[in-house]
This record gives sequence, C-alpha cells and structure tokens, in this order.
Amino acid sequence: MGAERWRLFVALDIPEQVRDFIRDATSELRGEIAGARWVSPRNLHLTLKFIGEFEVSGMERLEREVLAAARGSAPFTAALGGCGAFPGAGRARVIWVGMRQGEKEASTLARRLESRLEKAGVKREERPFRGHLTLARMRHPVDCAALLDALGDRLAGLEEMSFPVDEATLYRSILGPQGPDYRPLLRAALGGKEDDADRMDGR
Ligand code: 2AM
Repeated sequence: MGAERWRLFVALDIPEQVRDFIRDATSELRGEIAGARWVSPRNLHLTLKFIGEFEVSGMERLEREVLAAARGSAPFTAALGGCGAFPGAGRARVIWVGMRQGEKEASTLARRLESRLEKAGVKREERPFRGHLTLARMRHPVDCAALLDALGDRLAGLEEMSFPVDEATLYRSILGPQGPDYRPLLRAALGGKEDDADRMDGR
C-alpha cells in the first residue's frame, strides 16, 4: 500500500456575514448558466496556496512552515469587490470576485507560503498570485459577460464590508459527489508568537 496522502490548501476565511451577503446576492443568478457549479456559501474562501496531494508523514514539517509564514505577516484588513472570470469573460471556466482591499498583503503572505512550503517539498506555483474568491466553476467554457455585469451590480455592497484578517487556515479537502468537504486542520495566527497555533480535530 502507498503512503497516505491528503489534498491540502491554505486559505483565508471569509466572515459569515460576507458569505451570507454573497449567498443572497447570487441566489437569483445561480440558474442562469447551465452546467455551472456554484460554491456553497460555507465553502467560500480566498486561496493563498494550493498544496495538492501531500504525504501525511510530512504534516508536522508542513504545519511548521505554515506557522512560520503566517508569523511573518502582520494582520490586515480585507474587502472583496469586482467580478471577473478565468481565463476570460467570453470563455469562462471560473467566475470569481476580487479583492478591493488587502490584496497586496494577501499576495505577500502567499509569497511567504510559497517559499516556506517549498522547504517542505511542495511545488512552487508558476502563475502569479491573484487574490480571488471562486463563486462558480463551469464544466465547459461559457460566455458569461452578461452574468458578470449583473453579478457586479448585485455584489457592489461587498466593497463596504471590510473585515479583519488575522489568521491563515490549512485545510484538508475531501472530494465527494456532494461537492468538496473542507476540513480545517490548523489555524495559524498572522504576526503571532512561536506557539500561536490552533490545531483542529477534523483530521
Ligand atoms: P480557486 O479558488 O482558484 O478555484 C481548493 O481546491 C482551492 O485550491 C480552490 O479554491 C482552488 O482555487 C485552489 N486551487 C488552486 N489550484 C488548484 C488545482 N490545481 N486544483 C484544485 N484546486 C486548486
């Protein structure tokens, strides 16, 4: 039998109030694109680093590096706003909302994670960091220009809903037919002290 591996990523959590706002603002638009899978409100997050399949035997080292990266970044304020699509509005695979505030800080933290996690054997991301929160994923490329206009209007209120970011969370992602189950493994305080770790029991 091969070594056990978990699918992992590091993300910033979004306050419940912001997730509720997005849920309400998008509810009527969710049926507009056939084949779109909308992220359930409880799963909305800002990904800092996708780690992928990682051998469980290396977890202790990995957690140490996540904690060190978080310790090196001070807490900051973030706000969401502005919608877009990857790779473009005319052939969207992913619909997202961007960051109006705090993207520079999130990007610095993502860079710290890249360097630290490389020491634990994680492959570096080649693409530049783009602070975004995925709202929906498409099975096939779709022209969603009209939807993005409507989304932009409905989500405009997000820009006023700034929130404090004071920790980064290491998640395990368990893929299933009902969608992914994201389980927090470790919450790492930004700018925290050496022992500022909050380990979760969702392993
Ligand atoms: P996304 O928000 O841009 O889709 C958990 O899967 C998180 O890791 C997702 O939010 C996803 O970011 C991110 N991620 C980045 N690269 C990934 C990849 N190659 N496969 C799956 N998820 C990835």
